[in-house]
Amino acid sequence: MIKTSMKSNNCGELNISNLNQEIVLSGWVSCIRDLGGILFVELRDRSGFFQIVANPQVNPEVHKLMEKVRTEYVIKVSGKVTKRPEETYNEKYPTGQVEMYPESLEILSTAKVLPFVLDDENVSEDVRLKYRYLDLRREKMIHNMTTRHNICQAARNYLNNLDFLEVETPILIKTTPEGARDYLVPSRVQEGKFYALPQSPQIYKQLLMVGGFERYYQIAKCFRDEDLRADRQPEFTQIDIEMSFVEQDDVIRVVEGLLEDTFKAAGVEIKAPFTRITWQEAMDRFGSDKPDTRFGLELFDIGDIILQSEFQIVKNTLENGGIVRGIRIPGGAKFSRKDIDDITKLAVSFGAKALANIIYNEDGTAKSPVLKFVTEDQAKQIQERAGAQAGDIIFFVADKPKLVYDVMGRLRLHFGKTLNMIDESKHNLLWVVDFPMFEWSDEEGRFMAMHHPFTSPNLEDLDKLDSGDLGNVKSIAYDIVYNGTELGGGSVRIHSSEVQQKIFKALGLTQEEAEEKFGFMVNALQYGTPPHAGLAIGLDRLVALLCRTDSIRDVIAFPKNSGAKDLMSDAPGIASLKQLRELHIKSTVQPQ
Ligand code: AMO
Ligand code: AMP
Repeated sequence: MIKTSMKSNNCGELNISNLNQEIVLSGWVSCIRDLGGILFVELRDRSGFFQIVANPQVNPEVHKLMEKVRTEYVIKVSGKVTKRPEETYNEKYPTGQVEMYPESLEILSTAKVLPFVLDDENVSEDVRLKYRYLDLRREKMIHNMTTRHNICQAARNYLNNLDFLEVETPILIKTTPEGARDYLVPSRVQEGKFYALPQSPQIYKQLLMVGGFERYYQIAKCFRDEDLRADRQPEFTQIDIEMSFVEQDDVIRVVEGLLEDTFKAAGVEIKAPFTRITWQEAMDRFGSDKPDTRFGLELFDIGDIILQSEFQIVKNTLENGGIVRGIRIPGGAKFSRKDIDDITKLAVSFGAKALANIIYNEDGTAKSPVLKFVTEDQAKQIQERAGAQAGDIIFFVADKPKLVYDVMGRLRLHFGKTLNMIDESKHNLLWVVDFPMFEWSDEEGRFMAMHHPFTSPNLEDLDKLDSGDLGNVKSIAYDIVYNGTELGGGSVRIHSSEVQQKIFKALGLTQEEAEEKFGFMVNALQYGTPPHAGLAIGLDRLVALLCRTDSIRDVIAFPKNSGAKDLMSDAPGIASLKQLRELHIKSTVQPQ
């Protein structure tokens, strides 16, 4: 540490080996106890706690001044490290065997009574966020932010050792299409024009490859104006990487090493290579492109059996491009009528039109509203397909594939959680590969890029691109999933301007629109572009998972709340008329 006149040591680092050393400590008073006239003060800094004792018999002057000290005052003390009487050892702290009877005490700063008690677990998050600078004093926040720092350092070390160059890319840019809404910044000097804040450094990192940098990384701020959830923030951070002269396997190998090192920095040992499954397999087995593989409850397909049956409504669905997937809940035959109603309602809230069930009773009989449509033999086949035993229940949904996967994937997670099937000690890392290139958007009425439009289609699927069979074009894109959370994603990029133009066309961009939006990118690809690929890891998500917290707000020093507001500074704020005028902007909302 840096020794200063105010601080020779950190509070939390002192122990019996420092006995009799003359030290100077500065920090916050976290608590004061008066035991028979002797004041026991817990002094706190980022490193931990150290006990100071003010005894009127030993030093009346220090004691007198200490009587004025309140919690969260900032004080400086100097004196000798002494050993506590053995019966007063505090095993809770590493410093629990030592203390100090200060020879001098100085109050550096007084403090008002805090709006909340720091370690009170029941304080609302809104209050904590309003006074985030106080909340940051908590041990948990110090731990989280330190872990974040350690993870960033491990990432930097790892990438530096592999010859990656850290490059900053601009924040005021023209839009990068990652699928969310842009934050716009009006230009004062270019009247009526706007910058966008980057949703990621995607375009720039690719241009760095055209520029010949070969290996780039950045711990990059990204901005996305989307609906917030516990694992999403409007501004967040990525460990962003891009490499030239590589294929998918090379990126995967580099990222596996990166994850091994960053996990290690947080005290978790993982071992590459990680399992890889295709997107299709992930959807078929788990109903999700970010499956939590810490528990089973895998989905099964009974489409072929239903097609042989008289179950007309589901047969119609299947004959019109639909699919059917089921899930087996071991021991679920004992669910009550109400349990089954609740599960059905849950499936409906996930978007299902109906949820069918078959109960396999302990006595070998089956019970279900659908048995009137299937023969006994078909019911047996379904039971076999499901692997259902007496005492189990199965549920199934038939509909369009996207909806079936979504509903069944969410039901699977619901059962995994509510039936306590998730082994929290597991660290399951999984690559999901072979994503579709496009995804149909009902909202937009057109195909959209599933990853982003710079992702390379699978070269064998180029003819499908030409024939307009967009739903079946695969891409060379890959996601890394950790215990059911998408930690990162990336792809091999298009390095041919012709293919890039084809993709823009498939996405419904006219030549002029493509030229206007990404002309510089297509242009750049024409000047000798190396094959390149990359990936970005969501740093906040990585840290949150490794700190075992559900919310990324817990690992961001100054986060926004779910309304994208900073409760501390009250941002976003109102712009004055003068500011708006300068920016050539007319607001539809009257400033107050
Ligand atoms: P993608 O959009 O998949 O890829 O983002 C990569 C990772 O960033 C994290 N992430 C977020 N974290 C917090 N809040 C958000 N709003 C948020 N959005 C995304 C996720 C995600 O996996 N340019 C590409 C990467 C590439 O192709 O190289 C990209 O940004 O953990
Ligand atoms: P009904 O004839 O409307 O009573 O439906 C008979 C059974 O078919 C009910 O148990 C429904 O839950 C089930 N069912 C109807 N449509 C679907 C569907 N799309 N997916 C799964 N089950 C369905």
